[in-house]
Amino acid sequence: MTARRIALVTGGSRGIGSAASRQLAADDVTVVVNYHTNAEAAQKVVDEIREGGGEAVPVQADIGDPAQVRALFDTVEDRFGALDIYVNNANTAATFSTIADAPDEHFEQTFLTNTRSMFVALREAARRLRCDGRIIFVSSGVTKMHIPKFGLYAATKAAGEQMIRTLAHECGARGVTANSVVLGPIRSASFDDRPGGAAEGIAQQTPLGRIGEPEDAADVIAFLASDAGRWITGQSINAGGGLY
Ligand SMILES: NC(=O)c1ccc[n+]([C@@H]2O[C@H](COP(=O)([O-])OP(=O)(O)OC[C@H]3O[C@@H](n4cnc5c(N)ncnc54)[C@H](OP(=O)(O)O)[C@@H]3O)[C@@H](O)[C@H]2O)c1
Repeated sequence: MTARRIALVTGGSRGIGSAASRQLAADDVTVVVNYHTNAEAAQKVVDEIREGGGEAVPVQADIGDPAQVRALFDTVEDRFGALDIYVNNANTAATFSTIADAPDEHFEQTFLTNTRSMFVALREAARRLRCDGRIIFVSSGVTKMHIPKFGLYAATKAAGEQMIRTLAHECGARGVTANSVVLGPIRSASFDDRPGGAAEGIAQQTPLGRIGEPEDAADVIAFLASDAGRWITGQSINAGGGLY
């Protein structure tokens, strides 16, 4: 009998991360649902998974703090003895301004904090994932569309996609795949907070005539995490409803 796979989803308590956690659990994966401040939301996701017969636990950690990122991976290993799937989903809060107007603090908050925590997390995943593991980085279509005021946020995501391409080569001998899912607009709290107009206006620009739902993203993540995704690695998979 093959061992039950273990996944860690950062920011698994809400939005895209919660849908990915639910879908992975439905695929018989035990899910560690990481959250930052909203314990209630994380518990709700875990309860839903358990009610559906799946396995999940909530674990608090601020992914902006490298020590907490390492402790998060330690907790997963201490509790389950292994890690098979790492979904780098959470972002620390992003700022949005033109490059000309961005103060140093925006660089530190949006680029430095996120890129460093991503590096620390990807390093832990690369060191600890079992053979045939999966690394999935949640990126954004802003790496393709070059939208004013999204420069720092886009640069963070571009850095993540590049690290993923390199990781695919560094970890491939163990059967570990590493991919980015390049998401277009998905209905969520962070989508509502960003500049750039109402969802309806953006929906009209997509061939499918709508913005995405968290489940649209989750299905792509779950596919890459599954055995069926084993031959895809080092890729930035466009999942933007055809927007780019
Ligand atoms: N929504 C979109 O249109 C869109 C498009 C492209 C890419 N993305 C990317 O998708 C990812 C998820 O976005 P979302 O829209 O699903 O966001 P969301 O609905 O706002 O949810 C954010 C999640 O991240 C967690 N989080 C926030 N800061 C954290 C921190 N410092 N440490 C640990 N967890 C933290 C939150 O935890 P709490 O519940 O505890 O606050 C929550 O679970 C992000 O990387 C985002 O850049 C989103």
